[in-house]
Amino acid sequence: MSEVRDSDQYESLIGEAGDRAIHRPTKGLVIETQRLILRAPKAEDAMAIVLLADNAAVARNLVGMPHPYRIEHAFEWIDEDPGEGGQKHLICLKGANGTATPIGAVTLDFRRGARIPTLGCWFGEVHWGRGFATEACHAVIDYAFLHQGHDKLSFTCRVTNQPGRRVIEKCGFQLAAQELGNARYQGAVVPVDRFQIERRTWESLRAWEPLRLHRRTEDEIGGLTTRGLAVAE
Ligand SMILES: CC(C)(COP(=O)(O)OP(=O)(O)OC[C@H]1O[C@@H](n2cnc3c(N)ncnc32)[C@H](O)[C@@H]1OP(=O)(O)O)[C@@H](O)C(=O)NCCC(=O)NCCS
Repeated sequence: MSEVRDSDQYESLIGEAGDRAIHRPTKGLVIETQRLILRAPKAEDAMAIVLLADNAAVARNLVGMPHPYRIEHAFEWIDEDPGEGGQKHLICLKGANGTATPIGAVTLDFRRGARIPTLGCWFGEVHWGRGFATEACHAVIDYAFLHQGHDKLSFTCRVTNQPGRRVIEKCGFQLAAQELGNARYQGAVVPVDRFQIERRTWESLRAWEPLRLHRRTEDEIGGLTTRGLAVAE
């Protein structure tokens, strides 16, 4: 197993390719973003998880989320192994004096027989609408492509879940299929959209060059164009 290096946190910022080792350890992995810390959940987090997750507004948008969400569900999730090539993070919001308060969760795994590693995320309702889901998913996707060797990732979303769909789109996923999912909350089969992102698309988005603008006079612009045409001829 290769070790997580100190410099790893910077790799995704500058978009380098990493070592793509599928066996990169996830145990003890901590991912830091501008506002968030993504880390493994611990038994001490169980009550905080329940307080965030025990909400119909969260459960009705997730096919596998139990409702009501009890402490035993939290322990079950904490103990669950995300499997090889998977990720499982409690998302914590950085605060003053080095505090980090749990606000949600994000996973990448092969749940429900998925052939492609599939993301899932949820946040406590009070934390919605501040860009946290997009920020956390960007980090998980970067890690998956940079360090876990994945070539394609998937994300499913109930067709009625507009905020979920926006997060997925803002991560660069594209609609791949329309399917049916067994929704635990509804106790019924519901339509879901399946989105995918391929490594090449992610690489292209990460390499998107910053726009550079310069002020030029009309004469200078004319000169640039003429020179450009002259070379082309
Ligand atoms: C979906 C969820 C994860 C989004 O978390 P979040 O931190 O609020 O997400 P972000 O702030 O990064 O992005 C939300 C986007 O949805 C948009 N949005 C919010 N409500 C919307 C609505 N009713 N219709 C359309 N777009 C909506 C926001 O404007 C934002 O998009 P923008 O940046 O283009 O303006 C959160 O609402 C949640 O936990 N829901 C319950 C579980 C769930 O649905 N999980 C995702 C399954 S796919």
